[in-house]
Amino acid sequence: MEERPLTAGRTAMGVLRRIREKGVAGVSRAVWDRLEERLLEGYYERSLGIATAGRISRQALGYESAEWSEYGASTYGNIRRIMRAMEVDPDRDVFVDFGCGKGRVVIAAAFYPFARVIGVERSPALGDAARRNVERARSRLACPRIDIVTADASAYDVPDEATIIYFASPFSGATLDTVLDNVKASLVRSPRRLRVVSHGYDAANPFEQQIRRHEWLALSAEIPLQRSNSAWVYVNSRWTCGPVQPAA
Ligand SMILES: C[S@@+](CC[C@H](N)C(=O)[O-])C[C@H]1O[C@@H](n2cnc3c(N)ncnc32)[C@H](O)[C@@H]1O
Repeated sequence: MEERPLTAGRTAMGVLRRIREKGVAGVSRAVWDRLEERLLEGYYERSLGIATAGRISRQALGYESAEWSEYGASTYGNIRRIMRAMEVDPDRDVFVDFGCGKGRVVIAAAFYPFARVIGVERSPALGDAARRNVERARSRLACPRIDIVTADASAYDVPDEATIIYFASPFSGATLDTVLDNVKASLVRSPRRLRVVSHGYDAANPFEQQIRRHEWLALSAEIPLQRSNSAWVYVNSRWTCGPVQPAA
């Protein structure tokens, strides 16, 4: 009981410190983002009957490679911001979430009329959870074909129909370089327009910096996200895009 005033005092000090760092507008924004996420997460998870929340450490996933990230889902608010910013060509675009975890992004993408949505996940337990979640949500989804593949992303053959690649910082280093090289090889085999969407934090993030070293990708848009974070959209260069259409 005696600790109460102390705890309340500490909370007040914490709030004041945050206001000093971020300003009143910044703190209100952060509170709003958190509230929005609570509401959206409750709504989607309950109405679809799925369970995609929580964090699972690399250790619990048994990951031996330091390049492979732990599990933590993209927020529903951010997924909505990203999907609304993407133009989807119905029945032609194919969306691939590398490191799909329990399938939250796969399911959210499948609300759109993609020809196919694919999730690639290294952890068999997370892949199974994603398949269960997709089955529960299936009757509400617009996309007719959804596949969850259990594999190390760097060993996965990128299908030549893939047109949107989604990364929520799932891996780094040689794994990321190999995956991007595989995407490029698919474009050389079958030239087409492709977008890479990276749900990052800020442009200085090492993951973002690594993507930008692949010179066949050009930054095309920044999508503002919750908590002053961003997603970036990259497009492939002309020579992997296929023949340029003559001007009308
Ligand atoms: C930050 S979570 C993102 C989950 C999901 N894409 C989302 O945005 O909600 C990263 C995921 O990448 C997976 N992952 C890590 N290394 C991987 C690899 N080499 N191949 C495939 N998946 C991997 C992890 O198991 C984890 O589920």
